[in-house]
Amino acid sequence: MVNKSSGTKKIILSMLRNSDSSVSGEQMSEKLGISRVAIWKHIKTLKELGYKIVGSSTGYILQPDNDFLYSWEFDTNADLYMTYKELSSTMEKAKEEAEKKCSPFKTIIAETQSAGKGQADRNWQSDKGGLYFTTILRPQLPSAYTYLYTFAATAVLSEVIRSLYNLEAEAKWPNDLLINGKKIAGVLTENHSKGTKINWLNLGIGINANNNPQLSNAESLKNLCGRKIDRKELLTTFEKRYKATIETSTPDEICNLWKRNNQTINSRLDLKSGTGECFKGIAIDIDRTGSLLIMQSNNKVKQALFGDLYIKE
Ligand code: BTN
Repeated sequence: MVNKSSGTKKIILSMLRNSDSSVSGEQMSEKLGISRVAIWKHIKTLKELGYKIVGSSTGYILQPDNDFLYSWEFDTNADLYMTYKELSSTMEKAKEEAEKKCSPFKTIIAETQSAGKGQADRNWQSDKGGLYFTTILRPQLPSAYTYLYTFAATAVLSEVIRSLYNLEAEAKWPNDLLINGKKIAGVLTENHSKGTKINWLNLGIGINANNNPQLSNAESLKNLCGRKIDRKELLTTFEKRYKATIETSTPDEICNLWKRNNQTINSRLDLKSGTGECFKGIAIDIDRTGSLLIMQSNNKVKQALFGDLYIKE
């Protein structure tokens, strides 16, 4: 269900989008049964939100730009989307919403983030054009299984990117998505558990969609495809497949899905652990805790729970 004000914006936008000429305030006010002043206020809000609406003596014209992710832009489940022009981080807003007992799959989106969070307390550069969102999940699995939600995310996202853009996207342990060795997306989860029961698990994803990443080891989908990415299509396709995957798969099935879509296993790599230690070897598998198993030159297997990986071949 769309709330009243969102519904009004949706109708105004569809009138503007479906018209070859300008649409007068009077036409809108008749269709919606609200005053012309109210229409003017909605138009003003839409402009502030980034829509390029130009007023003329005959009415309003919307300049074509459909890359908006506000709730009224979604045909189904519009009430699940909360979109902001800027947030410090979608993780913070999602935490507030999760604590307010919102329904699962509520998704917080920001056009830009002033303090985007990455793994290991790093900053996540969040320029305009990227896709930055956090989806609130309420898993029924014990908290030891949280890693499965990250594995499912990078695996499903790699499949979605391959199917939508024909690009060879692959998951890199533990939370990255790469194309030709360049980072396209990263996943960050935060959760709150009581005992072993997860109260909420927030899945944050940053995708270099239409932005131009400044780091040399990152790239955007737009640059790789040579065309602008429809972020709404990318988001809704991902969410639909992700939901189906986590609702119907066993832990083993999710691990196997990740294994089918990863580039890490069988690679020679260096791992810098959280404590700063360095381990070298060949990644041979993941285990039931989500750890990466690395065969070292002394034939001992290192179980890595977390760390930075430097893949060599
Ligand atoms: C990483 O690779 O280090 C994880 C990056 C996760 C970034 C996303 S963007 C949306 C959400 N909000 C944040 O502040 N971080 C995550």
